[in-house]
Amino acid sequence: MSGISDSFQRPINYLRISVTDRCNLRCIYCMPREGVHLVPHADLLSYEEITVVVQAAARVGISKVRLSGGEPLVRLELTKLIEMLSRVEGIDDISLTTNGVLLKRFAADLKEAGLRRVNVSLDSLRKDRFQRITGYDNLVDVLQGIDEARRVGLEPVKTNVVVMKGINDDEILDFASRTREGWHVRFIELMPIGNGKMLQPEFMSAKEMLQRLAALGKLEPCLPPVGHGPAKYYSLPGVQGTVGFITPVSEHFCFRCNRLRLTADGKLLPCLMSDMEVDLRPTIRAGGSTEEVERLFRKAIASKPAGHNMAQGVLPHNRWMAQVGG
Ligand code: 5AD
Ligand code: SF4
Repeated sequence: MSGISDSFQRPINYLRISVTDRCNLRCIYCMPREGVHLVPHADLLSYEEITVVVQAAARVGISKVRLSGGEPLVRLELTKLIEMLSRVEGIDDISLTTNGVLLKRFAADLKEAGLRRVNVSLDSLRKDRFQRITGYDNLVDVLQGIDEARRVGLEPVKTNVVVMKGINDDEILDFASRTREGWHVRFIELMPIGNGKMLQPEFMSAKEMLQRLAALGKLEPCLPPVGHGPAKYYSLPGVQGTVGFITPVSEHFCFRCNRLRLTADGKLLPCLMSDMEVDLRPTIRAGGSTEEVERLFRKAIASKPAGHNMAQGVLPHNRWMAQVGG
């Protein structure tokens, strides 16, 4: 199956799927503590419907999918979806982004169902602080989840850390030290979306993070542990794990953006930073063919913008991160 490029000659081969907007944590930069308006269950795409979307995606040349949320593992029997997607011809890489709270319980089953690897969001290694950032006391569960994922071979496990000044920036070295135990740690710049808009005084650039890391020794640029994502990677001398930086704010990676996003209620988003969307659900629920869904994919890809102007304060309005899956 031949690949597709958008109007800016960017090959599009990656689909991020939010399987639910529900979450079992309330991270300060993401959802308000009181929660957000949730999509009614009847509006969520079923696993059969998501599979139809992925079949259409594969026909336009998408070969990699990542499941996210909200928190994907709170959706019932996610392993079933993974089994269904791993049977779609043309899809050769299925991964998952999770907060890790339920990972220990599900890691082995996920692996068996065909999941390749996981990214775990974790912003603190300290129990009381984890609770302050997420609203819940689940640090131990997340750490055990990471260990279990590595044990069953969902590798490489990458740990995503959103760095916030005065909140967790004093843990940059602790996180980076975990690379000595084989961890792959990625530091992420806080984006001004969701509750992140209210946390702009806490923004820290990747450049500053990198300066902090000098205390650990010389970091050498290296290849990503796997990859097609936007992070830049480094490693400490003689250390197996890596440190990556994701710079959505200080440095655009739009020019090599390879992705589309699907919301839990079936909207295809050409760009995280735009309010543009193509609604797939009416076509799917009306019993539309894979070819019809494929046409909507082509439409979304053709409307993908060149890039965002987040640094200039141009932001999307209508969604929380938990609704678009990061
Ligand atoms: N800025 C940066 N990262 C964010 N995430 C959620 N909201 C934001 C934000 N405002 C991250 C989560 C997770 C990924 C899916 O997106 O921490 O790692
Ligand atoms: Fe991709 Fe849009 Fe982000 Fe650019 S702004 S990297 S196109 S999601």
